[in-house]
Amino acid sequence: MTTVQEPAAATEERPIGYGRLKRKEDVRFVRGKGRYTDDVQLPGMLHGAILRSPFAHARIVSIDTSAAEAHPKVRAVITGKTLESMNLAWVPTLSLDTQAVLATDKVRFQGQEVAFVVAEDHYSARDALELIDVEYEPLPPVIDPRRALDPDAPIIRDDLEGKTDNHIFDWESGNKAETDAVFAKADVVVTQDMLYPRVHPAPMETCGVVADFDKVDGKLTLWSTTQAPHAHRTIYAMVAGLPEHKIRVIAPDIGGGFGNKVGIYPGYVCAVVGSIVTGKPVKWMEDRSENLMSTSFARDYHMHGEIAATREGKILGVRVKVLADHGAFNNQAQPTKYPAGFFHIFTGSYDLEAAHCEVRGVYTNKAPGGVAYACSFRVTEAVYLIERIVDCLAAELGMDPAELRMKNLLRPEQFPYECKTGWVYDSGDYPACLRKAMDIAGYEELRKEQAEKRARGELMGIGISFFTETVGAGPRKHMDILGLGMADGCELRVHPTGKAVVRLSVQTQGQGHETTFAQIIGEELGIPPEDIDVVHGDTDQTPFGLGTYGSRSTPVSGAAAAVVARKVRDKARLIAGAMLEVSPEDLEWEKGRYFVKGDPEKSKTIQEIAFAAHSDLELPDGVEGHLEAQTVYNPPEMTYPFGAYICVVDVDPGTGQVKVRRFIAVDDCGTRINPMIIEGQVHGGLADGVGMALMEFIGFDSDGNCLGGSFMDYLIPTALEVPAWELGHTVTPSPHHPIGAKGIGESATVGSPAAVVNAVLDAIGVRHADMPLNPSRVWTAMKYGSVEP
Ligand code: CDP
Repeated sequence: MTTVQEPAAATEERPIGYGRLKRKEDVRFVRGKGRYTDDVQLPGMLHGAILRSPFAHARIVSIDTSAAEAHPKVRAVITGKTLESMNLAWVPTLSLDTQAVLATDKVRFQGQEVAFVVAEDHYSARDALELIDVEYEPLPPVIDPRRALDPDAPIIRDDLEGKTDNHIFDWESGNKAETDAVFAKADVVVTQDMLYPRVHPAPMETCGVVADFDKVDGKLTLWSTTQAPHAHRTIYAMVAGLPEHKIRVIAPDIGGGFGNKVGIYPGYVCAVVGSIVTGKPVKWMEDRSENLMSTSFARDYHMHGEIAATREGKILGVRVKVLADHGAFNNQAQPTKYPAGFFHIFTGSYDLEAAHCEVRGVYTNKAPGGVAYACSFRVTEAVYLIERIVDCLAAELGMDPAELRMKNLLRPEQFPYECKTGWVYDSGDYPACLRKAMDIAGYEELRKEQAEKRARGELMGIGISFFTETVGAGPRKHMDILGLGMADGCELRVHPTGKAVVRLSVQTQGQGHETTFAQIIGEELGIPPEDIDVVHGDTDQTPFGLGTYGSRSTPVSGAAAAVVARKVRDKARLIAGAMLEVSPEDLEWEKGRYFVKGDPEKSKTIQEIAFAAHSDLELPDGVEGHLEAQTVYNPPEMTYPFGAYICVVDVDPGTGQVKVRRFIAVDDCGTRINPMIIEGQVHGGLADGVGMALMEFIGFDSDGNCLGGSFMDYLIPTALEVPAWELGHTVTPSPHHPIGAKGIGESATVGSPAAVVNAVLDAIGVRHADMPLNPSRVWTAMKYGSVEP
């Protein structure tokens, strides 16, 4: 069923009740009472610091740590040799590659970890790094991925047995023969090369850990900036050979993740080793430059896109070739079967006849990563590709980009829709969504204004993007990370007084889970959300699950929360039957109570039932006391949020400076749990998108020096660069999610860059220029018609 709701206040959408509840967690955040990893202080705690490589590619001739060891406050200096003796010099990555924890043979990117100093305080640890003498023999680096497979390219991963090139994988999706046939019959074929450049999630809080190994009971406790505490615990268990119950991973408050906190970084392993070696807790927190230079980057996709259509503008097919730069170690976090993540969504929101893509991954001398920066595993790259190339087609056909999209969008009656790469979109009314965005924008008026301005020599641009995301990884039979199936546990316990505690496997990084998960349980059981405590981020306290990234919390753990609440409700029915001395079948549920059919006065509230479940009430045969349940939710499918975005920009013809004047975002994430939180998620994602489109870029010079290693060089948007967002929404519930919800956390990051870029290029009348469209690049594009990547 599709309901299109009106914007503004009338849409205090209450599909699941409680609506715009203020965030519970803000009580501590706004008072400065959040507790982050760097706030953890333990008795006798020591501090670690990492010595990093100044070279992108060099052989290590020798490492002399004697002067550092002699520093009065240094307790240990750890090198790759120390780790080799513990079999920890190399560890598995999330993509089944191996990665050096501390380099032993060569360094393979600038900023790679070479040695770890443990000292009594942070400053002494840093000072002692200066005392370590490393002799390097520089090697020629591979920086441009387009040169990585040249026959004479230096081999980066000569640690891998028999490796004679820099190739990592080839992956394809769709049907090549059918796509070629469709292209052969097309009236129009448009081709465009484009780069989604290397960018960084850059969360406000950098990555870090406090490791405390207790030699007496053999238990390792880690306070860690992790988006996936349970997966991390299992990986530590596998690497260290400790049983899981001897490892406790605690993710305290997290200052933003955006994919940056999915992986396990060498610093974490070093802190654990530091604690084992010194017998003391060891804290390691990276600084901003370390975060930007060496932890997970995102994107870095060189894409060659082709689109085929009829002269009337019916899109027939899309064909894509991608060269994926994965850096020196393949450490991206994608489900095992999908080395290019969910790039298969490159067919976008359109009704095509055929599609095909090929993705080739290569090593270069850059930091590893390829994380899903606020997106569901390469969905952002795919959406950018299709939304850019559709605009190129519109330009070629001389058609309005809105009209071209409207002509080709999937129609509501086509859902569930199996796309040409074999994935089933669950629900949607795409034309209604685009129409709504155009209405809010006043699209036709904007085009008139643009024509008037053009006549006066002013550069105004209007950019559209229509995106479909695929979020909520599992199901487990299709998706795993390092063999761990992507399903989530959830436990719910209702106390005798009717207050409840729900335990989740996902981990919030600021998205408001403590509020929205309480809302889900509250809606299902009629217990007020303020009476429901949400516990997450501690492996000793919560059930196993794969973690929060790729907007999967609501589609997977949100579903688990609804299912577990329904299990409790089912048990409550049996107990209420015993209390009211009627058959459970004669009871009817109304939010918060069971009543006898036909006699609504005869009822028991969920709180009364909870007390009875713990009392001396004689329970029916087979019903155990207490009121609690647990579940593991294995999603049957992904959910498919979507949205229509329109961006309006003005470009200064003299300087190339872009001003984003308006941005209209109409999102559909199915059932909306907390509209205020949803809007916050969209606001943040849109700012991210403007940043990527106009400012953010991790560049390298030809020697492999990272040019984006500080916030002086890696620019992120502030309130000055973004407009007041204009939001709308439609609601098409997911048919297979227990409450019809789809994810929203990343929609705006995914959908917005293409809208901004399309707007800038529309303003300057250039077919394509690569991000970031900073003033110099816009100016160059205006002057020369294109910009070299
Ligand atoms: O996995 P992550 O939490 O980053 O993303 P999400 O599942 O899309 O949820 C982000 C936030 O938006 C959570 O607090 C959700 O509960 C909330 N949300 C919502 O209120 N309604 C939806 N349909 C989807 C998410």
